[in-house]
Amino acid sequence: MKRVFTLMAAVLMSVAAQAKTLVVYYSYTGNCQEIVTALTNQMEADVVRIEPADKTQKYEANNYAIGTQLLNAIKANPNDAASYPAIDPVSVNLADYENVVIVTPLWWSQMAAIMQTFLFNNSAQLADKTVGLIVSSYSSGISQVVADAKRLLPDVTWAGDALWINNSNHSRRSSLIADWLATQNFNSSNNMNQKMYITIGGRTETATLVDNAATQALVARLQEAPVTVTLNASGGFEIWGALGFSLPTSNQQITAQPGDIVLYNGSNICIFYGSNSWSYTRLGKIDGLSQSELRTFLKAGESNISVTLSLDNTTGIRKAKADERKSKTYTLQGTLARAGTKGVFIKDGKKIIR
Ligand SMILES: Cc1cc2nc3c(=O)[nH]c(=O)nc-3n(C[C@H](O)[C@H](O)[C@H](O)COP(=O)(O)O)c2cc1C
Repeated sequence: MKRVFTLMAAVLMSVAAQAKTLVVYYSYTGNCQEIVTALTNQMEADVVRIEPADKTQKYEANNYAIGTQLLNAIKANPNDAASYPAIDPVSVNLADYENVVIVTPLWWSQMAAIMQTFLFNNSAQLADKTVGLIVSSYSSGISQVVADAKRLLPDVTWAGDALWINNSNHSRRSSLIADWLATQNFNSSNNMNQKMYITIGGRTETATLVDNAATQALVARLQEAPVTVTLNASGGFEIWGALGFSLPTSNQQITAQPGDIVLYNGSNICIFYGSNSWSYTRLGKIDGLSQSELRTFLKAGESNISVTLSLDNTTGIRKAKADERKSKTYTLQGTLARAGTKGVFIKDGKKIIR
């Protein structure tokens, strides 16, 4: 049994080592710091702590008067940099990271002003990241903090729902974080490597899959055989229809863009040539086609469109690359191993270590 755990740990560590995740936190009285310690025991991440430029403030004094004052200034002029309290410069290059986890206290039901400054100042640099949010409060609910985060970071991809840790469950933070991490769709470094072919009317294009439970299950399915589905144009922005089987969901409200491929309601696939906001599970994106090329390829506006999904391009006009034919390497969980990962794998029915 111990050996199984050791093997599993080796695999998990090799996967975790690929992730480029930054944890950004602010902590006035130490709770968020404890949360970050529990978090980084469970995920490989660099950590940066935000500090106010003025370290003399007692935010809790006079019934939290200064905290209130700082938040009111932001609320009065949220688009003005001068409304936000100054923070120390942060010595981290955000471009190095794909994922960011924000850990912040709640102040008067809002995001602590100090963290708001960091997000306001770095909104553009964070725009292409996948972001998770953990909020610590004494007892107040966190919906306004989530709204603050969305206002300050309008363009990020949220990894999933925010985690709320409060005074009554702070002691259980490790297990709360473990459960929460399992629901989050963070990127891993190699998630952009898994290609899927889409063939429509004799023409084949590639798509790049994201890495989540849904795409892992889809890839496992496509390893057995290509899947052909019949999709119909709808709403002037997509073709969609039943997959014929279900995939694990991690739905979140997203604005799908042209080329995006998503899972809808667990068992339907939608491929977009326009845009639509709904609760979907991301599957991937068609590579390199303009919106008008997508409209042509996806037969925008038509019905009963036969769409074949495959991992080997045997159905379309492009030639399969030689190395796509070699035997595949699987993780101990039975999913396709990512290129370059280290650990214990199964290849040609045998256990290998690489
Ligand atoms: C200025 C200020 C305002 C606060 N307002 C609230 C509040 O409205 N509701 C609440 O439940 N907790 C409130 N708190 C408590 C913090 O959210 C809570 O103690 C949190 O765990 C602090 O995290 P930290 O220790 O990392 O700073 C407030 C704390 C401060 C300093």
